[in-house]
Amino acid sequence: MSNPRWLRRAGDPRLEYGADYNPEQWPREVWDEDVRAMRDAGVTIVSLAIFSWARLETAEGEYDFGWLDDAIDLLHANGIAVDLATATASPPPWLTTKHPEILPVDQKGNTIWPGGRQQWRPTSPIFRAYALRLVRTLAERYKDHPAVVAWHVSNELGCHNVYDFSDDAAAAFRVWLRARYATIDDLNEAWGTAFWSQWYSSFSEVLPPRQAATHPNPTQQLDFKRFSSDALKDYLIAEREILREITPEIPVTTNFMVMGETRGMDYADWAAEVDFIANDHYRLPGAQTLDELSFSANLTGNLAGGKPWFLMEHSTSAVNWQPINLAKKPGELERDSLTHVAHGADAVCFFQWRQSRAGAEKYHSAMYPHAGRDSQLFRDVVDLGSRLKSLASLAGTPRTRSKAAIIFDWTSWWAVEQDSHPTEKLKYRQEALDWYTAFLDLGVRADVVPVGAELDGYDVVVAPILHVMPAPLSAKLTAYVEGGGHLVTTYFSGIVDENDHIWLGGYPGALRDLLGIRIEEFGPLLDGDTAELDNGLTGTLWTDRIALAGADTTVLASYKTGDQAGRPAITRREVGDGSAAYVSTRLGADGLVPVLGDLLARAGVTSELPAELRGRVELAVRGETRFIINRTEEPVDITALGGDDRTLTARGVAVLRA
Ligand code: GLA
Ligand code: GLA
Repeated sequence: MSNPRWLRRAGDPRLEYGADYNPEQWPREVWDEDVRAMRDAGVTIVSLAIFSWARLETAEGEYDFGWLDDAIDLLHANGIAVDLATATASPPPWLTTKHPEILPVDQKGNTIWPGGRQQWRPTSPIFRAYALRLVRTLAERYKDHPAVVAWHVSNELGCHNVYDFSDDAAAAFRVWLRARYATIDDLNEAWGTAFWSQWYSSFSEVLPPRQAATHPNPTQQLDFKRFSSDALKDYLIAEREILREITPEIPVTTNFMVMGETRGMDYADWAAEVDFIANDHYRLPGAQTLDELSFSANLTGNLAGGKPWFLMEHSTSAVNWQPINLAKKPGELERDSLTHVAHGADAVCFFQWRQSRAGAEKYHSAMYPHAGRDSQLFRDVVDLGSRLKSLASLAGTPRTRSKAAIIFDWTSWWAVEQDSHPTEKLKYRQEALDWYTAFLDLGVRADVVPVGAELDGYDVVVAPILHVMPAPLSAKLTAYVEGGGHLVTTYFSGIVDENDHIWLGGYPGALRDLLGIRIEEFGPLLDGDTAELDNGLTGTLWTDRIALAGADTTVLASYKTGDQAGRPAITRREVGDGSAAYVSTRLGADGLVPVLGDLLARAGVTSELPAELRGRVELAVRGETRFIINRTEEPVDITALGGDDRTLTARGVAVLRA
């Protein structure tokens, strides 16, 4: 569906603004004030019924839709659209009491009990039957309601239940394996079961990687991660098919969590299954907090193929689930929201509309805080609503591609952080984020793209720790370089094939010829150990014993100290008009700035920002509109950009239109 209803409100383009709305937590009188305040804030859409199963199906087959009818009608009468959840996120107590066999089981065989949420096995046929019946009942009831502009499948699929080791999971895993491997011999080959007497004589002997005596089979672990992502995707498709059958004109989405360390779901693989991409993002504390937000929004925009997407949740201020939950500083609410918009979001929504009085999330901020309307937070929410209204004409404008890209790959993320590796300290996402920060520090825009993305048109492609390299992927990277592209990759890339088997003959086997280097042994570093480079930089975590393989590989920096002293640390091989560079140690964002700066200069990629603004602001572009995001805590003079704005406030965002 190329044109979801929420994008085509006839003649009335808008950026949607709203929140999860949980009216069932409040007495009916409160709802009238809710919709009045929503209108005052400029709210255009809310997500309803996300955790409402127990209040909608109060006992098996007994429904109470009265309150939801009332809520939807009230919203509609006030011009507020509804993203209606299928209400299946958390099964009600009557269901888990009757069918405790839908409860997930952890790796050690412990039951995950009710009391929180999402206590269901992704592969449980019983859960699925009950949930899909509810989806059908809801869809039939609300199919003609004009307020409903989107379907919201479940909620954050896999947030708590992606890995389930139950007997249902075991049975479904075997079905999945039979589809992947035609015969048990193929599985034995792929899993390397000649090792440790793991040879299977039949699929019926295969289990999920339950708690084992020692390092479980790595390919079994990797396949279980693939399977677990697929199992939830399959569930998403099952709900979607019912919704498409009953309401083919209403777009279906589910809220992804392209954020932080959430890694179980391969969203690059899920993206095609929804009618539009929606994401939830919560800022994490730390030095790169804003860069992480931008990274996530950027990747989400590229999962959406550059097309507009929906920010389904973020927070107006503090959350409740971090060890210490900080309120947002002045300006951060708007800056965070507009950073998502800068990367293609056509909706800015929050968890949640009204801050709860009770329950685990009562200290989580909302649009309507405990303090009520007479609060700075509510005033900020109203201001943000006005700002989004002023940007309405942006709606539908795709984000504009950059000249550079960073490749992101869930499979490599999963594989490199498994056990039994040269170091357990390696952090896939952190390395990718460090490169992104280096781009931002240099004032150069870079797209964060899934590994399957088309690379033509990018002058520079950075592939941090692209560890899992099936033969077609190394062929694609080689063709990119031979076509004039400039590839940059790092330590522990190109090491294994799709089955996590080593490419032999010297590392990195899949990229050895392209990079023109050969590594006989890895040189991981102990915590606190460093390796000095002759360009003044310091490496941590990893080094390689690199030998040049070929006359056309040049050394950009060498090790000065440590076991590799005198050997190459950073190399580059020119291939026609293109090149392939290798960075063999962890330099961190600061260390990557000069290295990336040099590589970009050699590739002819320059910043679009005036020199004095590079690093201080982030530039993001949607068509004719430039977003200038203040990365500092101080005002920045942006006169040089030639817009009407002369000063960017601390934590401010300027929107410049051609
Ligand atoms: C997730 C969930 C919401 C809420 C928020 C809190 O995004 O979808 O229901 O729990 O986290 O940050
Ligand atoms: C375009 C660019 C080159 C390179 C190639 C790769 O032609 O101009 O720099 O990115 O694509 O295919």
